[in-house]
Amino acid sequence: MRVAVIGAGVFGLSTAQSIYEQYHAIVTPLIIEVYADCFTPLTTSDGAAGLWQPYINDKGDVQEMKWYKQTFDYLLSCLRSPECVKMGIFLQSGYNLCTEPTPDPTFKDTVLGFRCLTERELKMFPGYSYGWFNTALILEGKTYLPWLMNWLAKRGVKFYHRKIGSFTELSRNGADVIINCTGMRSGDLQPDPELKPARGQIIKVEAPWLKHWVMTYTPKGVYNSPYIIPGSRLVSVGGVFQLGNWNEHNDSADHKAIWEKACQLEPSLRNATIVDDWTGLRPARSKIRLERETLLCGTTAVEVIHNYGHGGFGMTIYKGCAQEAARLFGEILKQKGKAPKAHL
Ligand code: FAD
Ligand code: BEZ
Repeated sequence: MRVAVIGAGVFGLSTAQSIYEQYHAIVTPLIIEVYADCFTPLTTSDGAAGLWQPYINDKGDVQEMKWYKQTFDYLLSCLRSPECVKMGIFLQSGYNLCTEPTPDPTFKDTVLGFRCLTERELKMFPGYSYGWFNTALILEGKTYLPWLMNWLAKRGVKFYHRKIGSFTELSRNGADVIINCTGMRSGDLQPDPELKPARGQIIKVEAPWLKHWVMTYTPKGVYNSPYIIPGSRLVSVGGVFQLGNWNEHNDSADHKAIWEKACQLEPSLRNATIVDDWTGLRPARSKIRLERETLLCGTTAVEVIHNYGHGGFGMTIYKGCAQEAARLFGEILKQKGKAPKAHL
C-alpha cells in the first residue's frame, strides 16, 4: 500500500503521522511518501503565532468542536512528556478583549480556567469593556514541524522536494491513496471556488517581559484588530485578515498600522526590538474540506483524501483532523480488503 501525502505543513506531516500510528502494524508494506515544494521553515504553519484558539464567533459545528478538543487534549497530554520542549508545546494564559458584551465562546469548557475579566483587569486595557481570561496552549510550527519530520523519517517515511502538478502525476507514479494537504494552494490541483486567501501579517519582536497573550476583537471580525502572542523566543504582533488578498509580501502600510494599534494596546512594546515581519495566507473556507473522493486518472481510479481549508485555526484543530483523515484511510483499506476486519 503506497500513500502519497502532498504538503509538509502541519496537516501533511500530522496526517502522515496518524496514518503511520494507526496502520503500520496491520498493513505491510505501508509506504508513506511526503511531497512538498516548501518544507519547514518556509510553510504557513511555520509562521503562525501558534495559539490554540478557535474563532471566538465560531458557530459550534459538532464535528469541528470534537476536532478542536481532541487537539487541545492531545497537546495537553504531550506536556507530560519530556519531548514537549523539542515539540514546541507549552501552556500560556492570556486575555480575550471585546468592545461589547459577547456570548461565551464555544471553547470555554475546553481551555483551562476560563472566566470573565474583572473590572480591575479591564482597567488595564482602555477601550475594552468585556472579556475573558483563560489558559491555553502554544504550538510553535518552527519547532514542531522539524520534530514531526524527524519522527516520520525515523519510521521510514520519505520526503520529496518537488511541486506536484496533478493527482494523475502521483497516481502514475504508483500511489494507491493520495492525501491532499496543500493548504492555500489546493485550488491549483482541483478548482475550489470556496477556498480563499485571508492574508495575515505579523511583526516578530523581542520583548521577553511579555508573558501573556492578548487578543482583541471588534465587531469588524477576527484578527483585524491587535493581538500580542509571546512565543518561546519572540513575540508575534498582529494582525490583519484580508480576505481575497493573494499578496505574500510584507506590506509597509500594514506594518505601520499593526504596530501603532499594538503599541496603543501594550505601550511597553515601544521598548521592543523588531526582528522580522512575516506574511502568510490563511486557507479560508466556509467549512474545512475533510473528505474522501475517488478520482479517475486516465483509466485508473485513485483514492484521494482532502484535508485543507483550516483558515486561521490550523494549529488549533490539526490533530483531530489528522485522526479523522486516518479513519477515512481505514475505510479505503477495508474496501480494498487490505486489512483484517478486526482492526478497522
Ligand atoms: P501549509 O502550512 O501552508 O502547508 C501547505 C503545504 O503544501 C506546504 O508544504 C506546500 O509546499 C505544499 N504544497 C501546496 N501545493 C503543493 C503542490 N502543488 N505540490 C507540492 N507541495 C504543495 N492557526 C492557529 O491555530 N493559531 C494561530 O495562532 C495561527 N496564527 C496564524 C497567523 C497568521 C498570520 C496566519 C497567516 C495563519 C495563522 N494560523 C494560526 C493558521 C495556520 O497557520 C494555518 O491554518 C495552517 O498553517 C495551515 O496548514 P496547512 O498544512 O494546511 O498549510
Ligand atoms: C491569526 O492571525 O490567524 C491568529 C492569531 C492568533 C490566534 C489564532 C489565529
